[in-house]
Amino acid sequence: MRVPVLVTRASFPDIVDRLRAGFEVTDNPDDTIWTQSELIERLQGKVGAMTAGSDRIDATLLDACPQLKAVCNIGVGYNNVDVEACTARGVLVTNTPDVLTDTTADFGFALMMAAARRIAESEHYLRAGAWTKTGRYDMFVGGDVHGATLGILGMGRIGQAIARRGAFGFDMRVIYHNRTPLPAQTEERCRARYVDKETLLRESDHLIVVAPYSAQAHHAIGAAQLKQMKSSATLTNIARGGVVDDAALAVALEEGGIAAAGLDVFEGEPAVLPALLALKNVVLTPHIGSASVSTRRAMASLCVDNLMAALGQGPAAGRPPTPVNPGVLHAQARSFEQRASL
Ligand code: 8YV
Repeated sequence: MRVPVLVTRASFPDIVDRLRAGFEVTDNPDDTIWTQSELIERLQGKVGAMTAGSDRIDATLLDACPQLKAVCNIGVGYNNVDVEACTARGVLVTNTPDVLTDTTADFGFALMMAAARRIAESEHYLRAGAWTKTGRYDMFVGGDVHGATLGILGMGRIGQAIARRGAFGFDMRVIYHNRTPLPAQTEERCRARYVDKETLLRESDHLIVVAPYSAQAHHAIGAAQLKQMKSSATLTNIARGGVVDDAALAVALEEGGIAAAGLDVFEGEPAVLPALLALKNVVLTPHIGSASVSTRRAMASLCVDNLMAALGQGPAAGRPPTPVNPGVLHAQARSFEQRASL
């Protein structure tokens, strides 16, 4: 009998088909968003799952699905998965890093530029038929990007890719804050300098948030932090809803505490705070940072590779390319060795 797996969200059919050769696949081509109990119901008896950010994989779910051995999440972020609870139960977790780095960095840069140069706001004005007089000297004047100070909160792979774009593409001065400073050589490659968080907030002309969500990162940018920023600054969040306090941001944008913002992620998405929707100086996009055709295909494909390998199939059987909790693999290998030596 083929091993049963669940694919929780719709994906590229030809990529999901790669799983059908070795697994009994239950998928979701209509892309219905299941409730937690519907997800648990569909996971009954499944040994592996291809999951997404909208699926909450927690201790309750894991206890209700004891056969589950691998949770392969699409996305570099995996704050929807309780990794500790998975590790404690011997469940392998994988993500999809690297393949989305440049696409997401491109998007973060585009969102920051759109906010700084008021692209969405002026486009709405034009479409509304309000452009009746050409060339007014102060029409939609914004902040320059080239030569400005770019601040990056969270200097992982995507943060570094944004830094390179700023430093080498737009001649920006790049400063960053991270839990730990990068090695000097990496800093040099990004032409970026480590600063404390206060300096980052105070000196950035354009601040981009790329830090992963965790309980410690909750509202890392809130009312107090926004108050430290320049009134001419922009803030862009491509990380996760919750790293920025959306309500505090709406107040800062409304009151002129900062000039503009670009948001691709939201607290409680797909719902967006009505106060943000009402503002002109914020560019809003529906969590599409990694959404280029080739990158979304690469993410799905890496997720499939992980699932196959985690469940002992394909050329990388037993060696999933991007495990989040590789200790589980070692524990699985040890218990196999022990069984073999009995
Ligand atoms: C994905 C993302 O679209 O990679 C991430 O962490 O946020 C996005 O690239 C999303 O996670 C899909 O579930």
